[in-house]
Amino acid sequence: MRILLIAGAFNSLTQRVHAELGDRGHHMSVELVGRDTPLAAVVRRHAPDLIVAPMLKTAVPREVWSACTCLIVHPGPVGDRGPSSVDWAVHLGERRWGVTVLQANDEMDAGDIWAFAECPVPEVGKSDLYRNEIADAAIEAVLSAVARFASGTYRPQPQDTLPAARKAGRTRPPMRQDVRRIDWSDPTETVVRRLRAADSQPGVRDELLGAPWFLHGGHPEDTLTGPPGTLLATRCGAICRATGDGAVWIPELRPPRGPGEPGTFKLPATLALGDRLPPLPELPAPLDPGQGPRTWSDIRYREDGPVGFLGFSFPGGAMSTDHCRRLLDAYRHACSRPTSVLVLGGGRDFFSNGIHLNVIEAAADPAEESWANINAMDDLVQAVLTTTDRWVVAALGGNAAAGGVMLALAADEVWCRSAVVLNPHYRLMGLYGSEYWTYSLPGRVGPETAARLTERALPVTAAAAQRIGLVDRTVDCAPRDFTARTAALAARLASAPALQSRIAAKKARRERDEADRPLAAYRDHELARMHAIFFDPERPYHALRRAFVRKEAPAGTPPHLSAHALGASKSRLP
Ligand code: COA
Repeated sequence: MRILLIAGAFNSLTQRVHAELGDRGHHMSVELVGRDTPLAAVVRRHAPDLIVAPMLKTAVPREVWSACTCLIVHPGPVGDRGPSSVDWAVHLGERRWGVTVLQANDEMDAGDIWAFAECPVPEVGKSDLYRNEIADAAIEAVLSAVARFASGTYRPQPQDTLPAARKAGRTRPPMRQDVRRIDWSDPTETVVRRLRAADSQPGVRDELLGAPWFLHGGHPEDTLTGPPGTLLATRCGAICRATGDGAVWIPELRPPRGPGEPGTFKLPATLALGDRLPPLPELPAPLDPGQGPRTWSDIRYREDGPVGFLGFSFPGGAMSTDHCRRLLDAYRHACSRPTSVLVLGGGRDFFSNGIHLNVIEAAADPAEESWANINAMDDLVQAVLTTTDRWVVAALGGNAAAGGVMLALAADEVWCRSAVVLNPHYRLMGLYGSEYWTYSLPGRVGPETAARLTERALPVTAAAAQRIGLVDRTVDCAPRDFTARTAALAARLASAPALQSRIAAKKARRERDEADRPLAAYRDHELARMHAIFFDPERPYHALRRAFVRKEAPAGTPPHLSAHALGASKSRLP
């Protein structure tokens, strides 16, 4: 079928719907839609058999839905309506949620139902929930709705004919800041839930050190206490703030936007506060907090017999110079341990999205900070590439992009949760890229496929990535099961009789490759191209980065998503 996706942004869910339906042989095209988009003309031009809207904030005009069936993906259970569904699910502490695929009609979220799917609501931030459990449910519902439409015989069910018991939701208003407001004398559980319902956007508006800020992210802390609302400590860029019965770690802050000013963006909290931060103890993050009182750490290491697990989780998957250096220190520690398999990642949500564009944008000299960040990233990737005394597995429970994909490719094996979407390219940020990608990417998929992946700049599902050799294993499981499934697979790998000979073979291969062309030569070549981009303010990277961090809407559908570009892509690659 010819399927047109319409969306407010080519966000993670839209990318996944696009890639999953494309994998099933549908002819896909994408249009990004804003308030002023002449949607009727756009749809006439595409002449699709079906329209799917995975993430649309604007209404579909009657002229469009009366001419072509349009399926709206609503991230809420049957009967739920309104633009803040996922925020409400987290805010109210719902245990289960769902996704409904409805047919567009005159009233927002009120159309006939083509399919729905349910999902659990774990204790995570809203965006993490959206990218994982909700995205999984959305894919299940979309695939079933598309198959029903294709059958030509299915009749969608009007909402008012469903039994009341099936209608779990109701109409809820947009969630405003007065609902999100935090009373710091409330218990940690309440405060954390409010922070999570607003994470990663829009954050919770609050007063901090006498000024207004949006607080982004929140993790419970059981040991530290103090008068409610006071700042107690810092850790790796985050601040710790007392609640009624404990405290929370807040990793990022964003200043409010002034009238007529450009959009503001999140930064690690201590960086955002700068000189305004009073003297506070910097408490080191425990690498292995174990099962004791809850605390927060963005890098964790633990062992189970011959397997080491180095987990990390950075907001938005963005890795600043500081993140890269701390992860490299932890990686070196992990390599000093007597293990034969090392699992890198293995947690839920983003693996990595490469260098930290927000921290770069905020730096006094963005070119210098870009340079420091890419060098720190390269040092980390080099350490992985040159590990020859154990087997390294990159385990991706969530998506990865740009240098974050290349970090994974440095490992001996790449395992992905089957729901993962990869963006193995840099072009959309105007970058040539580094992270030794010119060594690892063609080494895995061959030079022609590497060129197509980097030039087409399209997302790839885990299944498609496995078909072309970009990843080695897909793990078909729910987000909450990925860590345990990975651990079981790693234990089996560590006990396999062939492991030592595989480690010896990879060491020999690395030595041959080094003799052929040293890793340093790949790095020098990539960094020369990156240096030229970073230090030339006229290069598109600088404007693209500014627009990305300030979330400026693109003027229209980017050319690489046009029907022509996507049509040309149908030959073989995902
Ligand atoms: N630096 C800083 N922030 C980043 C980031 C980066 N490299 N990559 C992602 N983020 C942030 C986004 O701004 C967003 O913030 P928000 O939650 O406050 O809105 C969050 O992470 C999630 O990203 P989003 O774009 O909403 O997720 P997505 O799944 O729809 O798209 C990407 C993911 C990776 C395709 C997209 O974020 C992207 O293109 N990132 C830039 C990748 C890149 O060019 N890296 C630098 C080169 S190594």
